[in-house]
Amino acid sequence: MTMNPDSSADPVPIPVPVPAAWHERLVRLVPGLTAADLSLAIHPGDQMYSHSLAHHGQPDIALSQYFAISLQQFSVARQVVRSLFGADAGRLQWLDFACGYGRLLRLLPALVPPAQTWASDIQAPAVAFVERTFGVQGLLSSADPEQFAPAERFDVIWVASLFSHLPGPLFRAWLARLMHLLSPDGVICFSVRDASQLPPGMSLPEGGLLYSGDSENAELDPDIYGTTWASEAYVRQALAGQPYARLPRALANEQDLYIAAANPARDLSALTAIRRGPWGWLDRRRLDADGGLELEGWAGSLDDGQVDRVEIRFGSQARSLACTIDRPDVAHAFADPRMARVGWRCRLPWPGQVSEADAAVSLEVQAVSRQDERIVLYAGRALDETTAAVA
Ligand SMILES: C[S@@+](CC[C@H](N)C(=O)[O-])C[C@H]1O[C@@H](n2cnc3c(N)ncnc32)[C@H](O)[C@@H]1O
Repeated sequence: MTMNPDSSADPVPIPVPVPAAWHERLVRLVPGLTAADLSLAIHPGDQMYSHSLAHHGQPDIALSQYFAISLQQFSVARQVVRSLFGADAGRLQWLDFACGYGRLLRLLPALVPPAQTWASDIQAPAVAFVERTFGVQGLLSSADPEQFAPAERFDVIWVASLFSHLPGPLFRAWLARLMHLLSPDGVICFSVRDASQLPPGMSLPEGGLLYSGDSENAELDPDIYGTTWASEAYVRQALAGQPYARLPRALANEQDLYIAAANPARDLSALTAIRRGPWGWLDRRRLDADGGLELEGWAGSLDDGQVDRVEIRFGSQARSLACTIDRPDVAHAFADPRMARVGWRCRLPWPGQVSEADAAVSLEVQAVSRQDERIVLYAGRALDETTAAVA
């Protein structure tokens, strides 16, 4: 298998506009990431961004969600690698399989140099984009696992949110194929949607895997890419006896992360200490009758239940809040009673008269855990059409 042949022929797409403040923010939030290493370019066809934009309707919310997922995914990847490979992490050969348009790859130079990173997807424009933008080696994938036969062997194969979209036969076939591409001491990390994520009233069939042809990606044939839920027993059987660790809801606080080793003697027990980090959402931004900015949301942690604080920056103002408001809906959604009081709310005076220009006043909301881990709940304009409409 060679580098992606389409890379030079593909016309350069006009990227999604990303405010420059994200550059400094991401460099600050990702240890080891240098300003020169970070590209902010998001491809207009990136389904991980466009799906969020279609759902929330506002670019600042979609970008905040997109980068929050990048940050959380990177943090878990870094912990996995540090705990399994220690100081050798910088020498690893890494494959981001089903990389999409590079939601993780843009942060990966903080862990593995691009010269040691391979990136593969079934979408040729995605592979061309990540080669060009992040300087990694592209490998075009295929619908048939047997056709994917790169010469390299990899120390880490990272597969975020692919097995959560595969029908049963492809789930097993891709797992076997990718396991075969591991170096003798290599590991595969892949995410799976567990039965706890099933919509109300649905359950897994006896075989342990449920597949539906619906997905966020209209480009892909529903026979090979849809939505999948699978039990641990199903995954264990598909791994055919290889040792593995399962980290429930370790990816975006939603999908379980499985780590399986090529070496049957590999000790994976240290992985249970991996932290998911803080998580949350800004539910509401609105102007009140007196022109103040009202903010409301939640922030919690599957590691500790409560976070330490929510930090808010609004123009030149800064606030730090504890989460003290009842949110039984959050505790229910995460099946974690420790998250029953994770709500927060505050009001900030608007600086001066509200005008068109004030829409640009920047707002940043972060949740901070007791171990000083951070996640961005929102970063962008304080005021937009939605905020003004409900004033
Ligand atoms: C939900 S996206 C996840 C993208 C990325 N891993 C992330 O977390 O942002 C799933 C990706 O799997 C890719 N995909 C689907 N079938 C594939 C296959 N047979 N080989 C490689 N990639 C595939 C899709 O094109 C899509 O980019």
